[in-house]
Amino acid sequence: MKCRVCRGPAVIDVRRHNANFCVEHFIQQCERQVTKAIDAFGMIAPGERVLVAVSGGKDSLALWDLLVRLGYHAEGLYLGLGIGEYSDESGDYARNFAVTRGLVLHEVDLRRDFGYDIPRASAVTGRVPCSACGLSKRHLFDEMARQGEFDVVATGHNLDDEAAVLFGNVLRWQTEYLARQMPVLPAGNGFPRKVKPLVRLSEREMAAYCIVQGIDYQVEECPMATGNSHLGYKEALNAVEDQSPGTKHDFYFGFLERAAAGFRQGLTQDASALGSCRDCGAPTPGDRCAFCRLVERTGGHHRTQDPNGASPGSETAVVLGRRERS
Ligand code: AMP
Ligand code: FES
Ligand code: ZN
Ligand code: ZN
Repeated sequence: MKCRVCRGPAVIDVRRHNANFCVEHFIQQCERQVTKAIDAFGMIAPGERVLVAVSGGKDSLALWDLLVRLGYHAEGLYLGLGIGEYSDESGDYARNFAVTRGLVLHEVDLRRDFGYDIPRASAVTGRVPCSACGLSKRHLFDEMARQGEFDVVATGHNLDDEAAVLFGNVLRWQTEYLARQMPVLPAGNGFPRKVKPLVRLSEREMAAYCIVQGIDYQVEECPMATGNSHLGYKEALNAVEDQSPGTKHDFYFGFLERAAAGFRQGLTQDASALGSCRDCGAPTPGDRCAFCRLVERTGGHHRTQDPNGASPGSETAVVLGRRERS
């Protein structure tokens, strides 16, 4: 197996591109794919401040690494979800990465800062954990972006994730979701822009990237997500991809290029301006946002205030060393 670029010994085959790469050229290939996604969808402009949501898993750590390599100002945000050992470990991986690279990591801990965790939220709402989890993540990513004056929030969703979500939405013809499934959600109504710069890279490539870069990541998946349909869709798509490499890419990018606009036409736009949540100030159509209502239902509390009276948000920002980027 020879590297497509230098003909030296290759360490990975990427069947979708019908190519093998050595370590150096594989890293270059990943950088190129991220750059291509960022440019094609206008994800991040030079000089913008990026907040990377880091879970401690391979995708978000690889994303953080790649954005910094590409010269972006990228700080991390880790949310402690309170899912037992899984969360304790994931936090360690995120912190360790930040410390060894001298990067800034902000931390919010649901239990410490709001008095609830995902298992409790799931129990009181009677819904699957991923529902309260998704709501909490979206709210806290947005809040940190506002408070830290970040232009954009980046998540580690990769090609496999996006193709699986698309597959699920198509199977049930969830046209509203199809209309909104984009690698970039523009800023608006008080919300920051959201981007997924790894959409051109697969899960397997992200695992390989972490290995060749010596990035230690949490391999274990969230125990609360086992058995959810998303994993089944991934398996089904993997079976097809195995038979016919490139199918996943064509499915997802074909949708973006040839079908997504059609679904967006049918989208019901709510043009009414949003007000501010009376408890936390987040944009919301009602009087209080869904996050504050969730916190109340769990018996949690408003964000723990810093006794030193630091500015909102900074009280929970654990800043783990800072290196001036050259
Ligand atoms: P998931 O929904 O778990 O597949 O995660 C998708 C993306 O959300 C990850 O790639 C991260 O960017 C982000 N994310 C997931 N969990 C966390 C977390 N605990 N803290 C911060 N970001 C997270
Ligand atoms: Fe959200 Fe598992 S990470 S429920
Ligand atoms: Zn090479
Ligand atoms: Zn609120």
